[in-house]
Amino acid sequence: MADMFGLEGKAALITGAAQGIGYGIACALAGHGAKLALADINQDELERFFQQEPQFKDSAIKLRMDVSNATDVVNGVDRVMNEFGSLDILVNNAGIVKDALVMRMKEEDWDRVLDVNLKGAFLCARAAARAMIKSRWGRIINIASVVGQMGNPGQANYSAAKAGLIGLTKTLAKELAPRGITANAITPGYIETSMTARLEKNIKDEMLKIIPLKRFGSIEDIAFMVTVLASEQAGYITGQVIPVNGGMYM
Ligand SMILES: NC(=O)c1ccc[n+]([C@@H]2O[C@H](COP(=O)([O-])OP(=O)(O)OC[C@H]3O[C@@H](n4cnc5c(N)ncnc54)[C@H](O)[C@@H]3O)[C@@H](O)[C@H]2O)c1
Repeated sequence: MADMFGLEGKAALITGAAQGIGYGIACALAGHGAKLALADINQDELERFFQQEPQFKDSAIKLRMDVSNATDVVNGVDRVMNEFGSLDILVNNAGIVKDALVMRMKEEDWDRVLDVNLKGAFLCARAAARAMIKSRWGRIINIASVVGQMGNPGQANYSAAKAGLIGLTKTLAKELAPRGITANAITPGYIETSMTARLEKNIKDEMLKIIPLKRFGSIEDIAFMVTVLASEQAGYITGQVIPVNGGMYM
């Protein structure tokens, strides 16, 4: 039976794929028959992924990529084009946090978070769009964050980058629509991954109080929305910001 999302044989590049949400997205898209290029700065973790998920061993491409480095990104996309012949889906998922209150935030921590979370998405989208234009079909999905919409003390760099990512998404949507390429952003709320595991219990308890659904999100909650937005049927959805946050911000 053909895959209900029309993802069979589509080539997907996922950044920050070695763990957490990126890993979950990779498993979901592979489950629907997509061919995967998995990019991450952390090669050891990516290698572990391949050991744990043997079904990817022969079919997926492993890319050592720092998304903030234009050469890494162009080389990665070139490899996808050489090996798969097309690039259909880009998921800009790589992201980092370097939290501090504004008055204590180091300039280098501001710069690095903006470089990875925002410039990285621009570099990947630019390279991917050039490839997608050839087949006049594409899906760009940016993993932003609820804090890009509502702000968060201690995360000026991160929330600015994620808000910027929303602006980038809308512009990509307008520029690329005539080429058959959609661009959308997902804004996860609090998702249980290593990024959030390090938060103290009292902060987690406070957060639960403002989540109407009274639970933290799962990796699968995000992977599902990526699958939907990547699908053939989502071709009339572009420039949108889709919250997956348990209702914590409406
Ligand atoms: N966990 C949450 O609650 C949450 C909420 C909202 C948004 N997000 C966003 O979801 C995405 C994934 O988050 P996660 O929780 O899975 O994080 P994570 O830290 O578990 O995984 C992030 C991955 O990105 C990779 N990475 C970091 N810098 C990179 C770079 N320069 N180039 C390539 N890869 C790089 C890391 O090695 C890691 O594998 C991020 O963009 C994050 O901002 C997460």
